[in-house]
Amino acid sequence: MRKGLYPGSFDPITNGHLDVLQRAARLFDEMVVAVARDNQKQSLFSMDERVAMIEEAARASGLTNVSVRPFEGLLVEFAAREGACAVLRGLRAVSDFEFEFQMALMNRKLDNRVETLFLTPQEELTYISSRIVKEIARLGGDIRAFVPAHVAEALKRKLGNARPDPASVTS
Ligand code: PNS
Repeated sequence: MRKGLYPGSFDPITNGHLDVLQRAARLFDEMVVAVARDNQKQSLFSMDERVAMIEEAARASGLTNVSVRPFEGLLVEFAAREGACAVLRGLRAVSDFEFEFQMALMNRKLDNRVETLFLTPQEELTYISSRIVKEIARLGGDIRAFVPAHVAEALKRKLGNARPDPASVTS
């Protein structure tokens, strides 16, 4: 029984995350999406909202071996508690590599039993990030190609009215 852990902020889950999760779910018997309660980052969505959006995305994609759990504290400690043998991370571009490499080696130093595996999403999804999707949504752009439909709706509900009304903008 091989269990993998896919950690991240998922604020919110994107089609890039979902692609990596689908690939990981084919490699492991069980996948746990570990949603970080990170106090250093101000997240747009609450933990409950982030978890629910990932669960809905996994359900809609027919992923039956995926569960979603919040975590706080050290990732390696959560991985040990879950009995996961590997941490999965998506690598989109060379620019991701430095941080991911540092994190993988640090996690190994903290707990030598946890391996980090990198998966690359389909190439047309490599430019998507939660941060940029939120920015586009905040500015009223169309984000439907970048996130699952229910996430696009949730972003619209949260940020839809954030676009300034041109009539109200004074120079
Ligand atoms: O989606 P993100 O923001 O790139 O995810 C980063 C995350 C949550 C995986 C990383 O910050 C993390 O593992 N945080 C938990 C705290 C921890 O273990 N820190 C040491 C990692 S070297």
